[in-house]
Amino acid sequence: MSKKIAVFASGSGSNFQVLAEAFPVEFVFSDKPQAYVLERANRLGVPSFTFELKDFDNKVAYEQAIVDLLDQHQIDLICLAGYMKIVGPTLLSAYEGKIINIHPAYLPAFPGAHGIEDAWKAGVAESGVTIHWVDAGVDTGQIIKQLRVPRLTDDTLETFETRIHEAEYQLYPEVLESLGVDRKNSPL
Ligand code: GAR
Repeated sequence: MSKKIAVFASGSGSNFQVLAEAFPVEFVFSDKPQAYVLERANRLGVPSFTFELKDFDNKVAYEQAIVDLLDQHQIDLICLAGYMKIVGPTLLSAYEGKIINIHPAYLPAFPGAHGIEDAWKAGVAESGVTIHWVDAGVDTGQIIKQLRVPRLTDDTLETFETRIHEAEYQLYPEVLESLGVDRKNSPL
């Protein structure tokens, strides 16, 4: 049976959109009520949920609410796609081995919130994209698959960034399929 996925995002949600067009997404979760990903979800008819940390007593209570939501929907795999919060022990222990993340650099190089810009500023000849299991560290979990993206001589930060995102849109669906998530309308 196909795995049921939820996507977590904090921002624009372009990766979410690529996934939702290819796979049935049970719901989107965002920690930011203004995030554009929620508009995309609405347009694509994918249910969405938003909880803000500030509305809870602490991060344990916040993550417990997320765990309850995941349990209710019997989610098998959580796909972080620009989810900019660190996954804490409450969520991690409940869903260990079931959370993956996409990072816009060739890990272990350039972890953190600015992978594209950091690689660009460092003047690397190539960077890339990584999908990895989530552990307690920041972008440190076991790598599932990576793609190299060269920096071209006439690249600007914008063109470089665009090609990194294109690599993300190629890699994320490939990895989901390899992890047993069936595409929409795939034969039974
Ligand atoms: C993506 O490039 C993703 O790799 C990155 O945030 C962007 C979200 O874009 N994630 C990280 O940097 C995590 N460390 P999107 O909202 O348009 O999918």
